[in-house]
Amino acid sequence: MTEQIYKGLAGVVADHTAVSKVNPESNSLLYRGYPVQELAAELSFEEVALLLWNGELPSAAEKEEFRGFERSHRALDPRVRAAIDLLPLDCHPMDVGRTAVSVLGANHPLSEDSSPEAELIKAKELFAAFPAVVAYDQRRRRELELVEPREDLDYSQNFLWMTFGEEAPEEVVDAFRVSMVLYAEHSFNASTFTARVVTSTLADLHSAVTAAIGALKGPLHGGANEAVMHTFEEIGIDPAETREAAAARAKAWMEQALAEKRKVMGFGHRVYKSGDSRVPTMKQALDAMVEYYGRGELMGLYDGLEAAMGEAKNILPNLDYPAGPTYHLMGFDTEMFTPLFIAARITGWTAHIAEQRANNALIRPLSAYNGPDERHL
Ligand code: SDX
Repeated sequence: MTEQIYKGLAGVVADHTAVSKVNPESNSLLYRGYPVQELAAELSFEEVALLLWNGELPSAAEKEEFRGFERSHRALDPRVRAAIDLLPLDCHPMDVGRTAVSVLGANHPLSEDSSPEAELIKAKELFAAFPAVVAYDQRRRRELELVEPREDLDYSQNFLWMTFGEEAPEEVVDAFRVSMVLYAEHSFNASTFTARVVTSTLADLHSAVTAAIGALKGPLHGGANEAVMHTFEEIGIDPAETREAAAARAKAWMEQALAEKRKVMGFGHRVYKSGDSRVPTMKQALDAMVEYYGRGELMGLYDGLEAAMGEAKNILPNLDYPAGPTYHLMGFDTEMFTPLFIAARITGWTAHIAEQRANNALIRPLSAYNGPDERHL
């Protein structure tokens, strides 16, 4: 009997979800029915988080309640800081993120309570606590002191405050907020499916999120936004260069890379085959940062790579492609880009964990054996 293998589970519908709808035919993405472009234009990241968790837009009372909760849970837990300080300064920041979530789980009084109420509390606490992990990790690598959170700032303003120690301009805050909304959720991507697999065994929320972080790290998935910046760095970034000259260099680099059969991260997608629905909105945020910082040459690199990949393989950018240079212009170190993706995707992961738990079946596919026939010692 020759079983049908679905390598990478490509095209396999594993379950229902009401959290988001990724529609490659219409090139659209809905969070609980709302187009992500509308959410990115109108809502704070805090409001989008509540929508993903609760399934409905938050009432004024719910927003106020979460505002108080989130702002009072931002400080870096001293036990997390102690664990981070044990990690080498040259370890990957995704390992720091993974460790931080694991330490939070090991210390959480509700870690083994999987009731919906406890799960939502843990999700909200992770949402509020993770920015401090990213901010502290970038600062310690630069031999800078921890910056305490401020309760007078919203989530995005405070994230940038804790990272850079100064209030970010509103243009930067808005581009950052847009990136968080766009990165929040994307149906059964590899890291979210990982979280659902772990949840399906009835393991706890922190175990599922820690596993999801491991999956997100890979450059075929979340690690792609960091890899995009490494591509720009390999080509060479020269602020004095004209946009046209940078584009020409980037085009030549891509043609050579593809001739060498290299996989260039930031392009292609398992589901979207005519372009990632989130790219235009993220590109607008990148354009705003390029204009604000006067870095036209970076857009030249962006344009040159995109044109060459399109001409050679007709493969289009995914969200990670505009996200990488946007974070670079904001001042984040390249290796911190995927931890920023964690901060956003904590919302989607924990929404899926709740959905899996509410209607669970152990996720355990079959395999087709192609090893040696039975034999004996
Ligand atoms: C994210 O799933 C999600 O929703 C993820 C995500 C989310 O929000 O959670 O959207 C976030 O992870 C976006 C994707 C980030 N990853 C990258 O940028 C890595 C580079 N992209 C590729 O590795 C690839 O496009 C995948 C892995 C994303 C999807 O690939 P598929 O569907 O498994 O298809 P494939 O790898 O078999 O590619 C088909 C062809 C191949 O050519 P052939 O070998 O058949 O000749 O296209 C080529 C590939 O080589 N190809 C690329 C390419 N992407 C596809 N060639 C060069 N560079 C690329 N980036």
